[in-house]
Amino acid sequence: MNHKIIVGNWKMNPENTKKALEIFTGIEKGLTKAKINPKKVKAIICPSYIHIAPLKAKAKGKVLLGAQNVYFAEKGSYTGEVAPAMLKDLGVSYVIIGHSERRKMGETDESVNKKVLLTLASKMTPIICIGETTRDDDGAYLTVIKDQVLKALNGVAKEKLGSVIIAYEPVWAIGATVAMNAHDVHQMMIFIKKVLVDFYKTKTIGSTPVLYGGAVDPTNAHGILTEGEADGLLIGRQSLEAKSFLEIIGFASNL
Ligand code: PGA
Repeated sequence: MNHKIIVGNWKMNPENTKKALEIFTGIEKGLTKAKINPKKVKAIICPSYIHIAPLKAKAKGKVLLGAQNVYFAEKGSYTGEVAPAMLKDLGVSYVIIGHSERRKMGETDESVNKKVLLTLASKMTPIICIGETTRDDDGAYLTVIKDQVLKALNGVAKEKLGSVIIAYEPVWAIGATVAMNAHDVHQMMIFIKKVLVDFYKTKTIGSTPVLYGGAVDPTNAHGILTEGEADGLLIGRQSLEAKSFLEIIGFASNL
Protein backbone atom coordinates (compact mmCIF):
# COMPACT_ATOMS: atom_id res chain seq x y z
CA MET A 1 0.00 0.00 0.00
CA ASN A 2 1.43 3.34 -0.95
CA HIS A 3 -1.01 5.54 0.92
CA LYS A 4 -2.36 5.69 4.46
CA ILE A 5 -6.06 5.83 5.34
CA ILE A 6 -7.14 8.08 8.19
CA VAL A 7 -10.77 7.65 9.22
CA GLY A 8 -12.66 9.80 11.70
CA ASN A 9 -15.58 8.18 13.50
CA TRP A 10 -17.68 10.99 14.96
CA LYS A 11 -20.10 8.61 16.70
CA MET A 12 -23.14 10.53 18.07
CA ASN A 13 -21.33 13.90 17.82
CA PRO A 14 -21.40 16.86 17.46
CA GLU A 15 -24.79 18.01 18.72
CA ASN A 16 -25.78 20.15 15.73
CA THR A 17 -25.17 20.61 12.01
CA LYS A 18 -23.46 23.97 12.48
CA LYS A 19 -20.70 22.40 14.56
CA ALA A 20 -20.40 19.44 12.20
CA LEU A 21 -19.89 21.84 9.30
CA GLU A 22 -17.34 23.88 11.27
CA ILE A 23 -15.18 20.85 12.07
CA PHE A 24 -15.50 19.39 8.57
CA THR A 25 -14.67 22.61 6.72
CA GLY A 26 -11.84 23.22 9.21
CA ILE A 27 -10.32 19.88 8.26
CA GLU A 28 -10.75 20.47 4.52
CA LYS A 29 -9.22 23.95 4.73
CA GLY A 30 -6.34 22.60 6.80
CA LEU A 31 -5.61 19.94 4.20
CA THR A 32 -5.56 22.55 1.44
CA LYS A 33 -3.31 24.87 3.45
CA ALA A 34 -0.87 22.10 4.33
CA LYS A 35 -0.88 20.98 0.67
CA ILE A 36 -1.50 17.39 1.74
CA ASN A 37 -0.94 15.04 -1.19
CA PRO A 38 -4.11 12.95 -1.61
CA LYS A 39 -1.94 10.21 -3.15
CA LYS A 40 -0.14 9.81 0.19
CA VAL A 41 -3.12 9.86 2.52
CA LYS A 42 -6.85 9.41 2.23
CA ALA A 43 -8.93 11.30 4.80
CA ILE A 44 -12.42 10.03 5.56
CA ILE A 45 -15.00 11.35 8.01
CA CYS A 46 -17.92 9.22 9.16
CA PRO A 47 -20.48 11.58 10.68
CA SER A 48 -23.93 10.77 12.00
CA TYR A 49 -26.41 9.82 9.24
CA ILE A 50 -28.21 13.14 9.48
CA HIS A 51 -25.03 15.17 8.96
CA ILE A 52 -23.99 13.37 5.78
CA ALA A 53 -26.08 15.42 3.32
CA PRO A 54 -25.19 18.89 4.70
CA LEU A 55 -21.49 17.98 4.81
CA LYS A 56 -21.60 16.57 1.30
CA ALA A 57 -23.20 19.79 0.07
CA LYS A 58 -20.25 21.83 1.39
CA ALA A 59 -17.48 19.28 0.75
CA LYS A 60 -14.66 20.25 -1.59
CA GLY A 61 -13.58 16.65 -2.11
CA LYS A 62 -10.53 16.77 0.18
CA VAL A 63 -12.27 14.61 2.76
CA LEU A 64 -14.38 11.63 1.72
CA LEU A 65 -17.57 10.67 3.51
CA GLY A 66 -18.43 7.47 5.26
CA ALA A 67 -21.36 6.24 7.33
CA GLN A 68 -21.18 4.61 10.76
CA ASN A 69 -23.63 1.84 9.98
CA VAL A 70 -26.07 0.56 7.35
CA TYR A 71 -28.98 -1.85 7.37
CA PHE A 72 -28.64 -5.41 6.06
CA ALA A 73 -31.53 -5.36 3.60
CA GLU A 74 -31.80 -3.54 0.30
CA LYS A 75 -35.28 -2.13 0.91
CA GLY A 76 -38.50 -2.78 2.74
CA SER A 77 -40.39 -2.16 5.96
CA TYR A 78 -37.58 -1.54 8.45
CA THR A 79 -38.57 1.46 10.54
CA GLY A 80 -35.64 3.65 11.46
CA GLU A 81 -33.10 1.92 9.25
CA VAL A 82 -31.02 3.18 6.31
CA ALA A 83 -30.41 1.11 3.16
CA PRO A 84 -27.05 0.85 1.36
CA ALA A 85 -28.47 2.46 -1.80
CA MET A 86 -29.61 5.49 0.23
CA LEU A 87 -26.07 6.04 1.46
CA LYS A 88 -24.62 5.58 -2.00
CA ASP A 89 -27.14 8.11 -3.32
CA LEU A 90 -25.88 10.70 -0.78
CA GLY A 91 -22.30 10.33 -1.99
CA VAL A 92 -21.06 8.03 0.75
CA SER A 93 -18.03 5.92 -0.23
CA TYR A 94 -17.26 4.04 3.02
CA VAL A 95 -19.36 2.32 5.68
CA ILE A 96 -18.12 1.37 9.15
CA ILE A 97 -19.54 -2.05 9.93
CA GLY A 98 -19.46 -3.97 13.19
CA HIS A 99 -18.04 -1.28 15.46
CA SER A 100 -17.76 -2.70 18.97
CA GLU A 101 -20.28 -0.14 20.23
CA ARG A 102 -22.81 -1.61 17.78
CA ARG A 103 -21.79 -5.18 18.60
CA LYS A 104 -22.65 -4.30 22.23
CA MET A 105 -26.12 -3.28 21.01
CA GLY A 106 -26.68 -6.68 19.41
CA GLU A 107 -24.78 -6.62 16.11
CA THR A 108 -23.67 -10.17 15.32
CA ASP A 109 -21.02 -11.64 13.02
CA GLU A 110 -23.89 -12.74 10.77
CA SER A 111 -25.41 -9.26 10.46
CA VAL A 112 -21.92 -7.82 9.93
CA ASN A 113 -21.42 -10.26 7.06
CA LYS A 114 -24.75 -9.36 5.41
CA LYS A 115 -23.91 -5.67 5.69
CA VAL A 116 -20.45 -6.22 4.18
CA LEU A 117 -21.91 -8.06 1.17
CA LEU A 118 -24.61 -5.43 0.56
CA THR A 119 -22.17 -2.55 0.98
CA LEU A 120 -19.85 -4.09 -1.61
CA ALA A 121 -22.80 -4.73 -3.93
CA SER A 122 -23.65 -1.01 -3.66
CA LYS A 123 -20.07 -0.15 -4.68
CA MET A 124 -19.03 1.28 -1.32
CA THR A 125 -16.08 0.16 0.80
CA PRO A 126 -16.88 -1.57 4.09
CA ILE A 127 -14.62 -0.69 7.03
CA ILE A 128 -15.01 -3.88 9.06
CA CYS A 129 -14.31 -3.43 12.76
CA ILE A 130 -12.94 -6.32 14.73
CA GLY A 131 -11.31 -6.53 18.15
CA GLU A 132 -11.08 -8.55 21.31
CA THR A 133 -12.72 -7.39 24.54
CA THR A 134 -9.97 -8.77 26.74
CA ARG A 135 -6.54 -10.31 26.34
CA ASP A 136 -5.36 -13.54 27.90
CA ASP A 137 -1.99 -15.26 28.21
CA ASP A 138 -3.01 -18.25 26.11
CA GLY A 139 -3.80 -16.28 22.98
CA ALA A 140 -7.53 -17.06 22.93
CA TYR A 141 -8.03 -13.48 21.74
CA LEU A 142 -6.32 -14.44 18.48
CA THR A 143 -9.06 -17.00 17.82
CA VAL A 144 -11.65 -14.28 18.49
CA ILE A 145 -10.00 -12.02 15.90
CA LYS A 146 -9.63 -14.79 13.32
CA ASP A 147 -13.26 -15.74 13.78
CA GLN A 148 -14.51 -12.18 13.39
CA VAL A 149 -12.44 -11.65 10.21
CA LEU A 150 -13.51 -14.87 8.54
CA LYS A 151 -17.18 -14.55 9.45
CA ALA A 152 -17.31 -10.94 8.22
CA LEU A 153 -15.76 -11.96 4.90
CA ASN A 154 -17.89 -15.05 4.31
CA GLY A 155 -18.84 -14.97 0.61
CA VAL A 156 -16.47 -12.12 -0.30
CA ALA A 157 -14.48 -13.12 -3.40
CA LYS A 158 -10.69 -12.79 -3.52
CA GLU A 159 -11.04 -10.17 -6.27
CA LYS A 160 -12.98 -7.96 -3.86
CA LEU A 161 -10.27 -7.85 -1.22
CA GLY A 162 -9.03 -4.52 -2.55
CA SER A 163 -12.46 -3.02 -1.83
CA VAL A 164 -12.47 -3.98 1.84
CA ILE A 165 -10.83 -2.28 4.81
CA ILE A 166 -10.31 -3.98 8.15
CA ALA A 167 -10.08 -1.88 11.30
CA TYR A 168 -8.51 -3.66 14.24
CA GLU A 169 -9.79 -2.02 17.40
CA PRO A 170 -9.07 -3.75 20.70
CA VAL A 171 -12.25 -2.97 22.61
CA TRP A 172 -10.33 -2.21 25.80
CA ALA A 173 -8.47 0.62 24.03
CA ILE A 174 -11.57 2.35 22.61
CA GLY A 175 -12.35 5.46 24.63
CA ALA A 176 -9.37 4.70 26.87
CA THR A 177 -6.52 7.05 27.75
CA VAL A 178 -3.77 4.80 26.42
CA ALA A 179 -3.64 3.07 23.02
CA MET A 180 -2.16 -0.34 22.35
CA ASN A 181 1.62 -0.05 22.08
CA ALA A 182 3.10 0.06 18.58
CA HIS A 183 4.90 -3.29 18.98
CA ASP A 184 1.67 -5.10 19.79
CA VAL A 185 -0.13 -3.27 16.96
CA HIS A 186 2.52 -4.61 14.59
CA GLN A 187 1.95 -8.18 15.83
CA MET A 188 -1.78 -7.82 15.21
CA MET A 189 -1.29 -6.37 11.72
CA ILE A 190 0.84 -9.41 10.83
CA PHE A 191 -1.64 -11.81 12.39
CA ILE A 192 -4.67 -10.36 10.56
CA LYS A 193 -2.85 -10.36 7.22
CA LYS A 194 -1.78 -13.97 7.82
CA VAL A 195 -5.42 -14.92 8.47
CA LEU A 196 -6.33 -13.38 5.09
CA VAL A 197 -3.40 -15.01 3.28
CA ASP A 198 -4.31 -18.44 4.65
CA PHE A 199 -8.01 -18.11 3.99
CA TYR A 200 -7.69 -16.76 0.46
CA LYS A 201 -4.73 -19.01 -0.36
CA THR A 202 -2.75 -16.18 -1.80
CA LYS A 203 0.86 -15.14 -1.25
CA THR A 204 0.25 -11.59 -0.07
CA ILE A 205 -2.69 -9.50 0.98
CA GLY A 206 -1.24 -6.20 -0.07
CA SER A 207 -4.57 -4.93 -1.26
CA THR A 208 -6.55 -5.08 2.01
CA PRO A 209 -5.62 -2.20 4.30
CA VAL A 210 -5.63 -3.03 8.00
CA LEU A 211 -6.13 -0.01 10.24
CA TYR A 212 -5.67 0.39 13.97
CA GLY A 213 -8.22 2.14 16.20
CA GLY A 214 -8.51 2.86 19.91
CA ALA A 215 -7.27 5.94 21.78
CA VAL A 216 -5.27 7.26 18.82
CA ASP A 217 -4.01 10.81 19.33
CA PRO A 218 -1.21 13.01 17.97
CA THR A 219 1.27 11.60 20.51
CA ASN A 220 0.92 7.94 19.50
CA ALA A 221 -0.25 8.08 15.85
CA HIS A 222 3.21 8.31 14.32
CA GLY A 223 4.52 5.24 16.19
CA ILE A 224 1.45 3.19 15.34
CA LEU A 225 1.87 4.02 11.65
CA THR A 226 5.64 3.46 11.54
CA GLU A 227 6.70 0.86 14.14
CA GLY A 228 3.16 -0.55 14.24
CA GLU A 229 3.00 -0.65 10.42
CA ALA A 230 -0.72 0.04 10.44
CA ASP A 231 -2.08 0.94 6.99
CA GLY A 232 -4.11 3.67 8.62
CA LEU A 233 -6.06 4.72 11.69
CA LEU A 234 -9.67 4.79 12.86
CA ILE A 235 -10.00 7.74 15.19
CA GLY A 236 -12.87 8.61 17.51
CA ARG A 237 -12.47 11.55 19.90
CA GLN A 238 -9.48 13.16 18.21
CA SER A 239 -11.30 13.31 14.86
CA LEU A 240 -13.67 15.87 16.35
CA GLU A 241 -10.70 18.16 16.96
CA ALA A 242 -9.74 19.50 13.54
CA LYS A 243 -6.25 20.45 14.76
CA SER A 244 -5.42 16.98 16.14
CA PHE A 245 -6.95 15.19 13.16
CA LEU A 246 -4.93 17.37 10.77
CA GLU A 247 -1.76 16.79 12.74
CA ILE A 248 -2.23 13.02 12.44
CA ILE A 249 -2.95 13.30 8.70
CA GLY A 250 0.23 15.37 8.43
CA PHE A 251 2.33 12.54 9.95
CA ALA A 252 0.70 10.03 7.62
CA SER A 253 1.43 12.13 4.55
CA ASN A 254 5.12 12.29 5.37
CA LEU A 255 5.77 8.57 5.64
P1 PGA B 1 -11.38 6.61 20.30
O1 PGA B 1 -12.48 5.77 19.50
O2 PGA B 1 -10.36 7.07 19.29
O3 PGA B 1 -12.13 7.75 20.90
O4 PGA B 1 -10.78 5.69 21.33
C1 PGA B 1 -12.10 4.90 18.47
C2 PGA B 1 -13.30 4.23 17.86
O5 PGA B 1 -14.26 3.93 18.58
O6 PGA B 1 -13.34 3.97 16.65
